[in-house]
Amino acid sequence: MTRVANFNAGPAALPVPVLERARDELLEFGKSGMSIMEHSHRGKAYEGVHNEAIALLREILAIPETHHVLFLQGGASLQFAMVPMNFLGAGKSADYINTGHWSERAIEETQLIGKVRIAGSTKVGKTFPRVPKPGEIQVDPAAAYVHTTTNNTIEGTQWQVEPDTGAVPLVADASSDILSRRIDVSRYGLIYAGAQKNIGPSGVVVVIARKDLVASGRKDIPTILRYSTFAEHNSLFNTPPSFAVYMVRNVMAWIKEVGGLPQIEAWNKEKGRLLYGTIDAHPDYYTSPVENESRSLMNVVWRLPSEALEEKFVKDATSAGLVGLKGHRSVGGMRASTYNAVTVDDVKKLCGFMEEFAKKNRP
Ligand SMILES: Cc1ncc(COP(=O)(O)O)c(C=O)c1O
Repeated sequence: MTRVANFNAGPAALPVPVLERARDELLEFGKSGMSIMEHSHRGKAYEGVHNEAIALLREILAIPETHHVLFLQGGASLQFAMVPMNFLGAGKSADYINTGHWSERAIEETQLIGKVRIAGSTKVGKTFPRVPKPGEIQVDPAAAYVHTTTNNTIEGTQWQVEPDTGAVPLVADASSDILSRRIDVSRYGLIYAGAQKNIGPSGVVVVIARKDLVASGRKDIPTILRYSTFAEHNSLFNTPPSFAVYMVRNVMAWIKEVGGLPQIEAWNKEKGRLLYGTIDAHPDYYTSPVENESRSLMNVVWRLPSEALEEKFVKDATSAGLVGLKGHRSVGGMRASTYNAVTVDDVKKLCGFMEEFAKKNRP
């Protein structure tokens, strides 16, 4: 078979060595006579994989002992509800920074549970052309937490540095850029991320949360919705998504093997340089709706001179083995998601295609 260059936004490309390892181990894990999917989650084989996935995540992201690493289910969308359920006590208010579609979903969900205050917003009409600049966020010192979205998957914007929230815990939806670069985990109260972009397949969510914050969470909510339940049971309170966690283990082992986040970060910067360079080289043809300082290295968005040309671009690109380039239906245009598993070569192919397309298809 020929593998295509996969620019899907999520579920997204996985590194080939990760898939090969899964293929090789699919029928028999180790010498156990069965697949890892068929093992009990209480058995030694699965427990080894589970703990290795956590240990590798800790090592790669340099997660300090002050923080738990948890595996949950329900997608990042359940986190929109779990965060306020756990930390938004009666009479309290939470600060939210509104930078796009997914921030708005988190805000809406929280409004069902408690009081939301907007600490900053970059909405212009229906668009979000950038993330806030330092100094544009006003944090309520009494807020239960400040919620931010580190990378806006649909709008193609990314924070370059974390917002300064003082003593108020910073809660981050890092679904679309976790593990794409080094971060200082100690600056966060809680980070959550659906796995299906940089961590592994869909079906598992990684939560990295300060132990004291988890311990302070509400106890009057259902057991399954408390972070403390997962922390107390090493994420084995009930049956975990064992195959997804196994794949997370494989992705983490791959990241470590290629050189960890310094190498991943270098590749991501190079991919961004190539792709934004191609967009900027054709200002009369390709335009970026995103302000330069907010450009995302994970989701690169751009427009063509007309919707008809955009449609043709997607069609021709697909025929050329460049897949998943249609922008989100809410914003239109093009989007290339260049997560960790998308190679520099994949991006070079896309840039070559863009050069040719701009030459051959004048409006
Ligand atoms: C930044 C961000 N947050 C949340 C979500 C929702 O994730 P899920 O489908 O896992 O609930 C997505 C999905 O693409 C996302 O990109």
